[in-house]
Amino acid sequence: MKNEARWQQSSLLGELDVARLRRDFPILERSVHDLPLVYLDNAATSQKPRSVIECEAQYYAGFNANVHRGAHRLSEEATAAFEAARDTVRDFIHARQREEIVFVRGATEAINLVATSYGQRLAPGDEILVTEMEHHSNIVPWQLLCQRSGAVLRVAPIDDYGQVMLSTYERLLGPRTRIVAFTHLSNALGTINPVRQMTELAHAHGAVVLVDGAQAVPHLHVDVQALDCDFYVFSGHKLYGPTGIGVLYGKAVLLAAMPPYQGGGDMIRQVSFAGTSYNELPYKFEAGTPHVAGAIALAAAIDYLGRVGVDAVAAHERALLDYATERARATPGLRIVGTARQKACILSFVLEGIHAHDVGTILDSEGIAVRSGHHCAMPTMERFGVPATVRASFALYNTHDDVDALFAGLNKVRQVFR
Ligand code: ALA
Repeated sequence: MKNEARWQQSSLLGELDVARLRRDFPILERSVHDLPLVYLDNAATSQKPRSVIECEAQYYAGFNANVHRGAHRLSEEATAAFEAARDTVRDFIHARQREEIVFVRGATEAINLVATSYGQRLAPGDEILVTEMEHHSNIVPWQLLCQRSGAVLRVAPIDDYGQVMLSTYERLLGPRTRIVAFTHLSNALGTINPVRQMTELAHAHGAVVLVDGAQAVPHLHVDVQALDCDFYVFSGHKLYGPTGIGVLYGKAVLLAAMPPYQGGGDMIRQVSFAGTSYNELPYKFEAGTPHVAGAIALAAAIDYLGRVGVDAVAAHERALLDYATERARATPGLRIVGTARQKACILSFVLEGIHAHDVGTILDSEGIAVRSGHHCAMPTMERFGVPATVRASFALYNTHDDVDALFAGLNKVRQVFR
């Protein structure tokens, strides 16, 4: 069966013209094990539209040069495109100033930057608060900071639905809380956290707030000024953009007071052996040649998502999640892990008596890509008493037929293990 036939019908549902959008993603044409690819691993990384792929190629073929350095034409063109990408990101998350947008490798590097740089002001006995649903990248950098500074890591628990227990969260905030870090949208459960409310509570105790938006930005409208968080981080590759590029947003007043994270070219104003002064924001945090192609292509991804419309994407994915959840509830022996009232785009589950990795392997043999494992969130798995889950995660190009294919695949899994 050609890929097209599988999704044509479902593309007529909802606001998005999914049939047309799918043609923007060349990889969706391919087969896996001689079967049409059903890609449901978007929380690990999303596929890339042609405009993003071509944007990178155009940079390398047309105006590849280093930025901020050359007086020549190519460097000027590369610099202009790189800095225009910063403006695109600023608009995308509605930051106040372009100086608040720092290009980094990804969400992980952004968190490490804040932990290393802002973290220098922490003292023994200070506290950092995270939640029980964090990705390892929003746990380990804080643990390392605790080891360096003598600060203490506190953890806000989650309930059986996978929601932060807000009364306990509030109780854990205290006069020693310096940093609060939590995800906007859980990669393991799909929970959407009440960022604004959690931020207000943290601010009331004088703490700064870092929000991990790696999963949120492809699915939710993000406005950092409305959220009022101090730092917001995300990666390009889950946002239909390239790997190896991401963003740290930080309020200018905080970034300006923070020491550099890495030393090298571009982050300096003046270097001598007697001492060095640093560049202005955001360059103070962008040591070395940046991922120019990545930043430009990230902007192309944001433009693409903007043309499709984040709200329309969110509504489409909501319909898919509702349908998948309904089918999951009707499947004997299937337990959904993460049933928060506010959730998006992720169906995490276990099948009674069958290891998640076996489920993933059999689904793969049917051409269906899901992630099975701990999703870099071992403490979350522990909270739910499972070593791993199967996770289907949706993107704008997924269809109801993809969901049907998933459940047909799960029937095959059952047959194998009968
Ligand atoms: N953090 C990515 C995931 O959730 C890799 O799969």
